[in-house]
Amino acid sequence: MTDREAERLMVFTEKLAVNAGAILKKSFNRRHDIRYKGRIDPVTEADLKSEKFITDNILNNYPEHEILTEEGSAVGQKSPYRWVIDPLDGTVNYAHAFPVYCVSIALEYKGEIVLGAVYDPQLEELFRARKGAGAYLNRKKIHVSGERVLKRALLATGFAYDIGTARRNNLGLFARMAKKAEGIRRLGSAALDLCWLAAGRLDGFWELKLHPWDTAAAKLIVEEAGGKITRFNGEKYSIFEKEILASNGKLHPALKKVLRG
Ligand code: IPD
Ligand code: CA
Ligand code: CA
Repeated sequence: MTDREAERLMVFTEKLAVNAGAILKKSFNRRHDIRYKGRIDPVTEADLKSEKFITDNILNNYPEHEILTEEGSAVGQKSPYRWVIDPLDGTVNYAHAFPVYCVSIALEYKGEIVLGAVYDPQLEELFRARKGAGAYLNRKKIHVSGERVLKRALLATGFAYDIGTARRNNLGLFARMAKKAEGIRRLGSAALDLCWLAAGRLDGFWELKLHPWDTAAAKLIVEEAGGKITRFNGEKYSIFEKEILASNGKLHPALKKVLRG
């Protein structure tokens, strides 16, 4: 892919994320039609509306591309280009009018994430990155924090929807980490957790059982902001992996040690 093509696709993706975000914001704080995919795993009419808007636009402009989405409007054809989309990350927050949620859109080319955009409609913050070209928040280049000491670090994590039944539920790790860090937040949107790490507002993040659409765009944003993402044991992370450890890089060894017990 040429630089020009990548930049054109980046601009297309940014517009898509911002416009899908506007759809979400319009229905924020209204009554929602909520359906449950599991015991506590909701989907609202806004998730579906945002996803339809994004996939229709991609199909109109790039009909030959493959698409992977959370709510199922996936297009399974084989193509070197694959879009990975979470039309609303933070659905539980959204359904409660808790103003922390976003749209996340990434594009892979030949199996590698080449660009990503995450848009927070409440704060009007657009996080974006293109492979090799840095990470930005609106017009400003962003960089991870320089924190080296775990007891001065502000971290984030989250819990999967199977928390009520699963043995691997992150509660033990949370308790261990809470004793070592300065603070831990549970914001409810993994894509924003990662973008806030990229912007230096958080110093580290970990979670179990995330899905590819939660992390695809933000992974590139963190890496382009100078951060590091691996599995808990330090091995290479892929968006299909069931554990993620992200940090400013400097805190990685300390975080790894706590997570590995
Ligand atoms: C969820 C959020 C949450 C994380 C969950 C995800 P959704 O995504 O990212 O922060 O803890 O594991 O499933 O369902 O709101 O798109
Ligand atoms: Ca999600
Ligand atoms: Ca979602």
